[in-house]
Amino acid sequence: MLDVRDLHVEFRTRDGVARAVNGVNYTVDAGETLAVLGESGSGKSVTAQTVMGILDMPPGRITGGEILFKGQDLLKMREDERRKIRGAGMAMIFQDALSSLNPVLSVGDQLGEMFIVHQGLSRKDAKARAVELMDRVRIPAAKERVGQYPHQFSGGMRQRIMIAMALSLEPDLIIADEPTTALDVTVQAQVMDLLAELQRELDMGLILITHDLGVVADVADKIAVMYAGRIVETAPVHDIYRAPAHPYTKGLLESIPRLDQKGKELYAIKGLPPNLMHIPPGCAFNPRCPMAQDVCRTDVPPLYEVNEQRGSACHFWEAAIHG
Ligand SMILES: Nc1ncnc2c1ncn2[C@@H]1O[C@H](COP(=O)(O)OP(=O)(O)OP(=O)(O)O)[C@@H](O)[C@H]1O
Ligand code: SF4
Ligand SMILES: [Mg+2]
Repeated sequence: MLDVRDLHVEFRTRDGVARAVNGVNYTVDAGETLAVLGESGSGKSVTAQTVMGILDMPPGRITGGEILFKGQDLLKMREDERRKIRGAGMAMIFQDALSSLNPVLSVGDQLGEMFIVHQGLSRKDAKARAVELMDRVRIPAAKERVGQYPHQFSGGMRQRIMIAMALSLEPDLIIADEPTTALDVTVQAQVMDLLAELQRELDMGLILITHDLGVVADVADKIAVMYAGRIVETAPVHDIYRAPAHPYTKGLLESIPRLDQKGKELYAIKGLPPNLMHIPPGCAFNPRCPMAQDVCRTDVPPLYEVNEQRGSACHFWEAAIHG
């Protein structure tokens, strides 16, 4: 359904050109969940915004690639065609519901707006649909609360409203950018479960951007790990947990707090992600990589095929997977 090919995005700023996305490839089918992982600044959100068609341009610039959605290249579409796809074809859920929702409109009006604009419903019918949606994302007493404003809801409930909004036109693809990061742990799990359940029910594709490897294991089918604007490893979720084929993925996995190893110091990947205006030559991860050799400082590793379903952009993926 979605096929992102060799996508490149950069930001021109006064200080120089930040190469935020440097040849990203990924696909998502109906009913499939792709989790996108990687440290802050690795290009997860910029890739998602480009797919969604909401990248800030300028300063952003798409310098290459294709985004095929049901066979059509979104990057070649006119803005009015693009707009139709947003909402009915794909929708996005953001981390921070409070700043994404309009504070001066009731929740019902915001949900109903989608139906008025896209489906020409009357105000009354739109409100009825809004209540249905609120029920669907399990907001208690939806009928009574439909007239309330965003600040009158808790964080978890607001995130449910965001989900309802994204689902309103039953899109084929949902992009959720850290949808639960701002919530506390128990609420996080509830919201994630709800999202996963609705996705299954509606057979939607889901791109889930997250720092939380715990969440990923439960809901994702496959994983793409990003580093410095590239996908460095991609694999079915269980394979990656069992045997990562890239030293960076290894580092990420070893950084998960584990209940059975309380007190043991967490392995954190040493050093910092690169400055995107000066990405190191060769493998971008080489200054931080415990396995780096000379070739890593000169030759950019392609995404080697580990098997039909897996790829790793590491010259030494075989050593990584067995070590
Ligand atoms: N509006 C912008 N102007 C200039 N540079 C930007 C802009 N938005 C993003 N960037 C650049 O793109 C890089 C990647 O950003 P992106 O938001 O995709 O990271 P991310 O992987 O989503 O990180 P996080 O986990 O913190 O959300 C940033 O480090 C920054 O250099
Ligand atoms: S290519 Fe080299 S530097 Fe990059 S991850 Fe593999 S071993 Fe490390
Ligand atoms: Mg982000």
